[in-house]
Amino acid sequence: MAGVGLAGAGLAGGFAAGNATARTSAPSAGPAEGDGAFAFTGEHQAGITTPVQDSLHFATWDVTTQDRDEVVALLRAWTLAASRMTQGLPAGEFGPMSGPYDAPPDDTGEAEDLPASGLTITFGFGPSFFTAADGTPRFGLDGRRPDLLADLPHFPGDMLEDARCGGDLAVQACANDPQVAVHAIRNLARIAFGTASVRWSQLGYGRTSSTTTTQPTPRNLFGFKDGTANITSEESAAVDEHVWVAPGDGADWLTGGSYLVARRIRMTIETWDRAPLREQETIVGRTKGSGAPLSGGEERTEPDFEAAGRGGAPLIDPASHVRLAHPTSNGGARMLRRGYNYTDGSDGLGRLDAGLFFLAYVRDPATQYVPMQNALAKHDLMSEYLRHTGSGIWAVPRGVAEGATLGGDQGAFVGQELFA
Ligand code: HEM
Repeated sequence: MAGVGLAGAGLAGGFAAGNATARTSAPSAGPAEGDGAFAFTGEHQAGITTPVQDSLHFATWDVTTQDRDEVVALLRAWTLAASRMTQGLPAGEFGPMSGPYDAPPDDTGEAEDLPASGLTITFGFGPSFFTAADGTPRFGLDGRRPDLLADLPHFPGDMLEDARCGGDLAVQACANDPQVAVHAIRNLARIAFGTASVRWSQLGYGRTSSTTTTQPTPRNLFGFKDGTANITSEESAAVDEHVWVAPGDGADWLTGGSYLVARRIRMTIETWDRAPLREQETIVGRTKGSGAPLSGGEERTEPDFEAAGRGGAPLIDPASHVRLAHPTSNGGARMLRRGYNYTDGSDGLGRLDAGLFFLAYVRDPATQYVPMQNALAKHDLMSEYLRHTGSGIWAVPRGVAEGATLGGDQGAFVGQELFA
């Protein structure tokens, strides 16, 4: 296990001896809320179309080794640890309270008495994983970077902080208990020590979308229902069309995977709280109560952008968020949103550092994300209340096959097709 560092050395016995056969149930089955476990393996990684959980810990890493074998060893170790933690088991076979007394425990312990809590761990590769800043290919992956995995362009109004952007590897850990999500990222960081270092991370609470029709629509920090028109897992044709990379899309190793876009969007909460209700609803294009479009009906009624009120003015403002983000304004493009509220304390000026950690999965970021973000940044009435402070894009490979053997020197791992 050279390459997974000191902590990895302590775990070597665990990974070498701890071969595990992955569970075989479909990843779509699992708890929308509560204690249960989602299957780690399946055609697609869990944590995308699986029901959104309550809490998030998202982290990105920069790989510090130059050695391809060490990167593969890390991915293998991460895969085994993730498969265990998602089932409510310690990251390593010994757990936090046993194993060699003179070695660091192979699990940190804070999730010891907690159930799986619907934990999903979803892995992605960023553009910088494939290509160094000077353009040199990394890890022998020449020609393997998908054309669509390009750094996002600068958008109008971006106020990005370098320390909240990018990363060679990204992991989205979601759970119904925040301690379980944090435990997952902490243990992956411990395992990566010496091979990859954490670049930045973000905690989130309170989901801002639903990914199944059975989940109620939650609210964001503007107090509006968020996720009403999201793609749900039940819309299998829409999921295939808008979320999963298909054969012929450009990078065969990514077939069955997706692209993840993350944006840390700070909301100027105090200014919003002084805006009249009429203005708030005009900006969103929906009512604050039921979430119905301002053209009438109920939450799930399709907005009618032609409907006009007295004097002929459109009931839904052409510059409202819902109008500009709607598929009819974006050539039919949709995305699977999976974001969270965040509050990182206050900023020293008495203002909350709070907002929405936007996460979206798309099949093609160039057509599904970039034009929409450009249109929103230029025209969305909501932009006045938003500051994009963090950003990143990652290619999220397909899932590890059901029944695959994990661990050891030959075990299956997430992203294996990339290194084939
Ligand atoms: C803090 C920032 C944001 C807030 C508060 C916000 C809020 C909302 C709300 C309240 C809705 C209406 C309910 C719904 O269908 O979910 C909505 C819809 C939507 N938003 Fe956002 N949003 C934000 C950022 C973004 C960004 C950055 C994008 C993409 C670039 C985006 C894309 C969408 C899409 C695609 C819809 C569904 C439109 C439809 O099909 O009707 N949003 N958002």
